[in-house]
Amino acid sequence: MSHSYPQDVDSALQEKAINLWQQGKCVAIPTETVYGLGADARNPSAVAGIYAVKSRPRFNPLIVHVADTATAQRYAEWNDRAETLSRFWPGPLTMVLRKRGDICDLVSAGGDTIGIRIPAHPLTRRLLHAFDGPIAAPSANRSGRISPTTAAHVLSEFGDSIPLIIDGGPCQVGLESTVVDLSGEHPVLLRPGAITRTMLEEALAEQGIASGANAGILKSPGQLESHYAPEKPLRLNAKTVEAGEGLLAFGPNAPAAEYCINLSERGDLAEAATRLFAALRSLDAMPVERLAAMPVPDEGIGEAINDRLQRAATR
Ligand code: TXA
Ligand code: MG
Repeated sequence: MSHSYPQDVDSALQEKAINLWQQGKCVAIPTETVYGLGADARNPSAVAGIYAVKSRPRFNPLIVHVADTATAQRYAEWNDRAETLSRFWPGPLTMVLRKRGDICDLVSAGGDTIGIRIPAHPLTRRLLHAFDGPIAAPSANRSGRISPTTAAHVLSEFGDSIPLIIDGGPCQVGLESTVVDLSGEHPVLLRPGAITRTMLEEALAEQGIASGANAGILKSPGQLESHYAPEKPLRLNAKTVEAGEGLLAFGPNAPAAEYCINLSERGDLAEAATRLFAALRSLDAMPVERLAAMPVPDEGIGEAINDRLQRAATR
């Protein structure tokens, strides 16, 4: 994966972030996927603060972010599949493993597993190294709303109710990490993302990895019914545009529309993923009554795009 983020976080800013974390406060941080709202995963009142700011239901567990694999192994029971999939770290993959160490129960929503990942954004990796501890960070949006892919999105979600937002530029992946549960007998894909089903199957040499919905086990974010939701209703599989609609287009053959954002005119799925959430926010703010999304191929990261679109359309 290529990165062109700001490489340096001002050292005064870094110190401020670390101090806030040590005091049990939240800091919004950039990652390669989406912006996160981070706090010390060992501190129950800090973690309670995340749930409060987001209005997040307490049964929905948080992902723990660490600087390196050695730290991950301190908080998660390692196994062969985790070892294999750690080749995707730092990167947009969260592994669900049996929990160990002093992560507080609120992070795992009372369960005995933990979702853990090493994010790839250089600025946040530097912060994690300096903090030298586990940071619980859900996406930095109010619960159920569209995930933020810029610092400005985070500001528009929370305003002054969080003390610090670290601006690391626009997120390069643009969709939340793939979540794969490795705590049971078989791996289960709980949330599709940029590390695709095919990539997981090839790395593990296992075909037909089940999805969370099919496996009927603990649910991942998006399995809450409505998620990633714009304010206005969203119609899927649009081939034409109706009066009053803003069009979320994909590919070179989009119908003409007065209000339209094309996710990728050349039909590139990775480009579409990067732009999806910002496009939903922009269309939502246009003078339209409803949104309509063209079909996106369900291959590679297209599976993750369609997952988010389906949830955005559910009300
Ligand atoms: O890309 C991402 O993963 C971003 C950035 C900030 O890292 N974070 C993110 O967090 O998307 P969040 O909270 O919006 O979504 C994480 C989802 C949770 O909603 C939860 O369902 C699932 O991951 N998850 C976390 N821990 C889990 C666990 N122990 N078992 C099953 N699912 C878990
Ligand atoms: Mg989220």
